[in-house]
Order: sequence, then structure tokens, then C-alpha cells
Amino acid sequence: MDSIVVTGGAPLAGQIAIAGAKNAALALMPATLLSDEPLTLTNAPRLSDIKTMTQLLQSLGAEVAVLQEGKVLALSSDALTSTRADYEIVRKMRASNLVLGPLLARTGQAVVSLPGGCAIGARPMDIHISALEALGAEIELKDGYLHAVAPGGLKGARVPLRFASVGATENTLMAATLAKGTTVIENAAREPEIVDLAVCLRKMGARIEGEGTATITIEGVDRLGGATHAVVTDRIELGTYMLAPVIAGGWVECLGGRIDLVLAFAEKLDAAGVAIEETDKGLKVSLKGDRPRAVDVVTEPFPGFPTDLQAQMMAMLATAEGTSVLEERIFENRFMHAPELMRMGAHIEVQGGHATVHGVDRLKGAPVMATDLRASVSLILAGLAAEGDTMVNRVYHLDRGYEHVEDKLGAVGARIERVKAQ
Ligand code: EPZ
Repeated sequence: MDSIVVTGGAPLAGQIAIAGAKNAALALMPATLLSDEPLTLTNAPRLSDIKTMTQLLQSLGAEVAVLQEGKVLALSSDALTSTRADYEIVRKMRASNLVLGPLLARTGQAVVSLPGGCAIGARPMDIHISALEALGAEIELKDGYLHAVAPGGLKGARVPLRFASVGATENTLMAATLAKGTTVIENAAREPEIVDLAVCLRKMGARIEGEGTATITIEGVDRLGGATHAVVTDRIELGTYMLAPVIAGGWVECLGGRIDLVLAFAEKLDAAGVAIEETDKGLKVSLKGDRPRAVDVVTEPFPGFPTDLQAQMMAMLATAEGTSVLEERIFENRFMHAPELMRMGAHIEVQGGHATVHGVDRLKGAPVMATDLRASVSLILAGLAAEGDTMVNRVYHLDRGYEHVEDKLGAVGARIERVKAQ
């Protein structure tokens, strides 16, 4: 397993191009299952999760051509050969469960493995199940697999979600496009990735209103056509690289960055003393003083502060002036980066869903271990300003969600290199 070594102390200066959103692409790709015409996705991110989704769709009989070194994905599903998503693939990536809704809508059946827990939580699928049952699906759990059928097809219905689950909203939205009649999803997730999926489905002929609000209305149609769609900018990669100059010093211009994708996050950076300038190419970020100020953070569904930026924010707050309290309200176990930051000298107390961070002057480099995608990048960020070397192990987590992080940070002056496993 590769490692990444960061040598702290180098201020940054330069531009980082922000890629297409992983969490948009992982919902857009299964949309191909809804139609027998080609779906072309541009601005696709080059990540291992995209490769995993590609393998899953191919195992169902879809064709996925990876063009322009992965920036363009040409998908088509005119002849599906299977409706089963195996545990071997689903356990690697929970987003595999996003084939459930489209398969049910297109074929009337699906057998999808439960993803099982992961480092950040149990991650059940009860909201997905009750939503699809509201549309007329019959879903049974047998030997770790969801066996779903929709005899006579799905029927539009009112679908109240007990929690604004991103994945459940996406599965329901995709299924409803081909259901007979009208579906109203209440308490829908409002993330930009949901909006991006709705825009793409509309290009394919779906009739959708209200995406981005808590109520999405879908008029079912008989069939969907093809489309070409550019994947929306990745707001989590954006937020991650906005924090790099705040921690390391200097400045970074995030190319393609849009402030509307990160408003709640940007408000917290502003309160911490960070300058964010909207340029004609994106967002230019630097620290106003010589040290960020402590701020409190609560993670919430969009438009609140994103849980996927909580670990990165903690890395910044570890050396801020003062004490910050971070409350994680989305996942039950998403502070595993805290003990690793403590190995670097951070002063953090974790009690249940709260982490209290007492800023210290400087962290010290150390060998640390990544436990999930966002925890791993928070350790890289912490290493940018730490004294000495920080070696982040198990970087396969990193490669799931960040394109060539060592290249992007190295290009703006960070001392960072990937050490290939022996
Ligand atoms: C999406 O996961 C993202 N993944 C996650 O990003 C992100 O952290 C999460 O949304 C929240 O924003 C993708 O889009 C591929 P949820 P998802 O359903 O859809 C509970 C990353 O780092 N829940 O909104 O799985 C669940 O356990 C990843 O890129 C149920 O209880 O998230 C969690 O506590 C990590 N029952 C909360 O809701 C359900 O049926 C939010 O989950 C579904 C979810």
C-alpha cells in the first residue's frame, strides 16, 4: 500500500484545478440504466470510485467507455444482462446501492447487496427501502442482499423521507422518473449533486421540479432518452484545497471553484480570518493574519456545513488561535482523524458527537494512518504546516476521492511525494 510523505513548512502559491464531483458522478453513472440510449458524462473525475462504479455497471451488462484519460465517460445500457450487484463490489463502495432505483424502474427487479458498515458508521438503507416500497416495490432482505421486485411497475406516490438522505433521494428520484403517475419526495436532500442529477435526468426526458429544495415533484414518463452532461464541480475537493493555504500559508486559486457550492463552509472560513476572493477563474484563498481564529462547526445536510469537510476543518482548527467545538450530526463515528491528529501534537477531546479542539502553535510530523477518504486528506493538510515529515499510510482511501493529490499540492509548492509500496 502506497504512502504519502509531506514535509511541512512550505507556503503555497499557485492554481489548483478542481475536478468534477465524485458524489455527482457516482449518481449520474447509474442513470444510464434508466435508458437504452447513450449517456455521455464530461468533466468526470479520475478516481478509483469511478472505476468501481464502471465495473459494477459493466457487470450488469452496461457498456462504459472511458475516454480522454477518464474525463469523459460514454455509457449505454441497451441490453442489460444482470440485475444483481454483488457484495464483492458493493462492500468496496456504498454508492453501488445507487443501482437499486434505476434497475427497479427499468427492469422491475434488482438484487443488491447491503453495503455493510464502514469506518464512519453502520450506514443502513432503511430510508431507501421505505421510499422505494412507497413507489410499489416489494423488498425483502435475504442473506445480506436486498431482493426487490416491482410487479406491474412502479407507481408514483408521496414519499416522505424521515431524514434527508442523499442516496435515498437519488434512488427515489431516479426510480420515480419511470413510475406511472406523480411522485412527491418530501424532506428530500438538497445537495448540489442532487440538483446535478435532476438536470441530467431532465436532459434525458424526465419531468422533474423542485430539485435543490426539500420537495421534489416527478411526473413519470414511459421512457428516457440519451444525453450529454458535464459533471458539476466537486465542492468537497474545492473546500479541501481552500483549506491548504490557510494551514500552510501563502495562497491558492481554486480553478472552477464556485462560492455558491460552499456558502456555509465559506462563512466559517470568513469567521476564522480567511480571505476568499471570487476571481474570473474561481476562488482565490489566503489567510488575512498569521494564524486562523477558532470557530465552532455543526455538520448538517446541505445547505448546512458539509460532513465531508469536517475532518479537513479540524486539521485547520488544530493550530487555530483559541478553542473550537465541532459537532458531527450526520455520521455516528466520524472523528477517527482526531487520534491521528493527536499523534501530531493536536489537543483534541472527543465525547460522542462532539470534538473540542484547543489550538496549538504548531503540529509535529509523525507517521499517521488514514481510516476513510476525508480523514486521510485531513492528515495531508495537517502535514503541510507540521514540523518535519508526516507519513500518511493506506492512501488507497485517498485515491478514492482525490485526483493525484500529491501532484495538485506539489504544483503549488507543497513538499509532498508518494512512496510506492515495496
Ligand atoms: C452521501 O452518502 C455521500 N456519498 C457521502 O460522502 C456524504 O458524507 C453523505 O452523502 C452525507 O452528505 C455519496 O454521495 C456517494 P446519507 P449517503 O444517505 O448517501 C443515515 C464521501 O466522503 N442513513 O445522506 O450514504 C446514514 O447512516 C462520502 O464522499 C440511514 O440511517 O449519505 C448517515 O448517518 C462519505 N438510513 C446519514 O443518514 C438510510 O437508509 C446520512 O446518510 C440512509 C442513510
